[in-house]
Amino acid sequence: MKKIAELIDRELIWTQPSAFKMQYELRAGENVIATLNEVRSSEFGVRSSEFGVRSSECGVRSSECGVRSSEFGVRSSECEGRSSEFGVRSSECGVRRPRHAGAHNNPMSSTRIISSEYMQWAKMRSQSRFNLATSGLAPYPLADLGAAVEDLEINGPNPYGYEPLQQALAVRSGAAPGCVVAAAGTSFANHLAMAAIVEPGDEVLVETPVYEPLVSVARYLGCDVKRFSRCFESGFRIDPSEVERSVTSRTRLILITNLHNPSGVLTDRDTLRQVGEIALAAGARVLVDEVYLEMLRVEGTEQDCSALPYSFPLGPQFVATNSLTKAYGLSGLRCGWILAEPDLARKMWLLNDLFGATAAHPVERLSVLALRRIERIADRAKKLLEINRRLLLQFLDSRDDVETVRPEFGTVVFPKLAGGRVDELCSLLREKYETTVAPGIFFEAPDHFRLGIGCETDMLAGGLDRLSSALDEMR
Ligand SMILES: Cc1ncc(COP(=O)(O)O)c(C=O)c1O
Repeated sequence: MKKIAELIDRELIWTQPSAFKMQYELRAGENVIATLNEVRSSEFGVRSSEFGVRSSECGVRSSECGVRSSEFGVRSSECEGRSSEFGVRSSECGVRRPRHAGAHNNPMSSTRIISSEYMQWAKMRSQSRFNLATSGLAPYPLADLGAAVEDLEINGPNPYGYEPLQQALAVRSGAAPGCVVAAAGTSFANHLAMAAIVEPGDEVLVETPVYEPLVSVARYLGCDVKRFSRCFESGFRIDPSEVERSVTSRTRLILITNLHNPSGVLTDRDTLRQVGEIALAAGARVLVDEVYLEMLRVEGTEQDCSALPYSFPLGPQFVATNSLTKAYGLSGLRCGWILAEPDLARKMWLLNDLFGATAAHPVERLSVLALRRIERIADRAKKLLEINRRLLLQFLDSRDDVETVRPEFGTVVFPKLAGGRVDELCSLLREKYETTVAPGIFFEAPDHFRLGIGCETDMLAGGLDRLSSALDEMR
């Protein structure tokens, strides 16, 4: 048994021994003085159904070592041990940075959630012979880009962006170059934009169901995440009146995806405008992740992008993020960007000096090349999706055990399983049918699964056949 006097000299930190297990240990130096076991994800916070906290074993009391429950922010529905003494509390946000003095003194000891469960799954577990879990277009090959060796030049003038790329992105998005901030994919665009807008303790209002990394980034940045719903019953549409009811005086950011991931549903300009007015009245900004809106440029008949509901032209409170990754099969290029009013854009560039500083120059050059040929790249995507969408619709028409909102465009749909459990369906698909779909639990909708149709047609056809067999087997 450790004496408290010995323990308080050292800092208490939460650690996660394995990145792949939701399991945490509270350590004082080498000593593990508490564990959280079988911590499960709920609403993408962290919930524990079973705590292995043994404060009595090590004789640590929160009051003695200055650790208060509110400082740990861990929720337990069932606690073994003396949780109230030990510093566990109900919180939506999961494990947070402990705010006791020790942790502040040591910048290496951050214990915020600094990972994304969904991304780990997507990177390590979503692959299969028939992969319907991806949301982007099948990869576009370098060989078709017509690159010369000069297009791979290693070094170039890019202190705050590479001028030709800045120009090309500005032209493409109809914004002034000073409003464009280049970023590595929409992922980093979202992170950089949020980091420049919010401060710890700010409230961020986010749609549900949601693309989980958006929530994880907001929480990582120390924000209080509040939600508004996009209900299946109302076609996953945004209801501005619910957004209005959910906004408070602390709301600094409203987060939306358009097209919506996971449902693929389009939000029209009128709705965006209403959300913008709500944000303006609250002194908040609206971040719209438009990575799938590019699909309308690929699939739609609209060649004129001013006809599409891009959010940035709707007012200075709007910040838009985007990339060439999803709609064009160019994920490896990581060609992403943010559109923001000039002062905020400048702030993002300066903040980026603390992150990536400068971009990989060959990628900037290849991105310029890709943007020059974007119509050709889009054409290939359009043809693929025309065929694939027909297969999807045939599949959906043939099933009475899934209910699906059917958006006109995009690479994903989010069917609801009418009977049975989605986790069982996913296991059966993976284990017996070599097929993967994205489980709805990752989007906070456990009765749904996300089906991607951007893959090669053979893969989609094979995967849908197998999905049908698995659904039949589950009847
Ligand atoms: C809504 C949304 N934003 C961003 C991303 C990541 O995009 P990128 O590959 O451009 O980083 C994804 C990927 O699935 C996504 O669904």
